[in-house]
Amino acid sequence: MTQQLETIHKVPIPTHFYSYLVADNGSYLSHDAETGFSFSSETNDSAIWDRSGDGGFKHVSTGYHLNTVGQEDETAFSVSINGEAQTFRVAHGPAELPSEYLATIRKQGWVCLTQIIDDETLQELERTAGTDRFSHLEVDRSQPAICQNTAVARTVAEPLSLWVIRQYMQTDDIRLSHVPGFAVLGQDDGKRNVQGWHSDFPYHWGVPARGLVPTPSGETVLGVQRNVCVSPFTRECGATAFKLGSHALDRPPPKEWGDATAHAKPGYRAEHGLPYNGPEADVVDAPGGSIILYDSRTWHRAGVNQTTKKRAAMLQAITPMYIFPKNDTSRAYKRLLESPVYEELNQREKQEIQNLMVHQFIGPGGEYAITPDRELTEKVKTATTSGY
Ligand SMILES: [Fe+2]
Repeated sequence: MTQQLETIHKVPIPTHFYSYLVADNGSYLSHDAETGFSFSSETNDSAIWDRSGDGGFKHVSTGYHLNTVGQEDETAFSVSINGEAQTFRVAHGPAELPSEYLATIRKQGWVCLTQIIDDETLQELERTAGTDRFSHLEVDRSQPAICQNTAVARTVAEPLSLWVIRQYMQTDDIRLSHVPGFAVLGQDDGKRNVQGWHSDFPYHWGVPARGLVPTPSGETVLGVQRNVCVSPFTRECGATAFKLGSHALDRPPPKEWGDATAHAKPGYRAEHGLPYNGPEADVVDAPGGSIILYDSRTWHRAGVNQTTKKRAAMLQAITPMYIFPKNDTSRAYKRLLESPVYEELNQREKQEIQNLMVHQFIGPGGEYAITPDRELTEKVKTATTSGY
């Protein structure tokens, strides 16, 4: 009898995408029936446009028609707003309205923004990861991925996933809890250790880590995980395995499923086999360029890649500002400021990455950026090792 594996949830492949209309500084042309046009750094429903059959663009939620007929360039055009000519670029938008994605994650604890990353950006992510169309390339490990390619920084600042996360977490003040990078999964050899079932940072249920969240957090969402699928996510290629909806249980995964603590022990997999991978578990099968968002309480584990093809993803823990960060992001951010990538970003992207990567506390006289103190670290080490 063949073993029954995880249940596959194949996301529908969109046949149509909306558009964003983006100004030079990166802000989005938004429209509201009462107040008219405005510029916004976020992409809620007000920023969603659709090409209309008679030329121009229709504002999806109000039906307002923006006439661009007669302008020669199909990808950029000028519009008079409040008596001033403004230039806009047409950019790839989502397949569904932002409010629809938000309703989905509120209902089920996860949502897939299918192919939200445009193909040009996706190609650059593959290049930096050294996978898919660029699997022949050597990966540069000398500097953080965000400093290597504008596409990586642009993906970190992807506006729709951030808007959905902010709404779902009920706070605008959100942070990246570690430096964004690529998780590349190579072919499994049948015996190496694999990741067991767990909930993500900061809950860390099932993980042998310090500081895990001791009790259920209820309506207070302490983390949303943002998985950018660079390679297509399929069961065979090692897509993440989930227990979808388990965030609502607000407790750790069952030990008998093989949690991350057990599977972290040397030689555990070789002796005990893989963690639970039967039909109670789920795989979200999504094309490259999609972003899967899930409540960090959701039980999951890394997939097992059965193919010879490397699978890349950008896995990012996003937390509210009141959660202590998982790792330092300040040094990578300072390197970004000095890299040529930074100058290629627009104003919105620069501001968003600063919001996400600079953790601050309110001190006497203002806000202070938090960064490791090497001298103090050495002093503490000496004090700890010398005892009392
Ligand atoms: Fe995880």
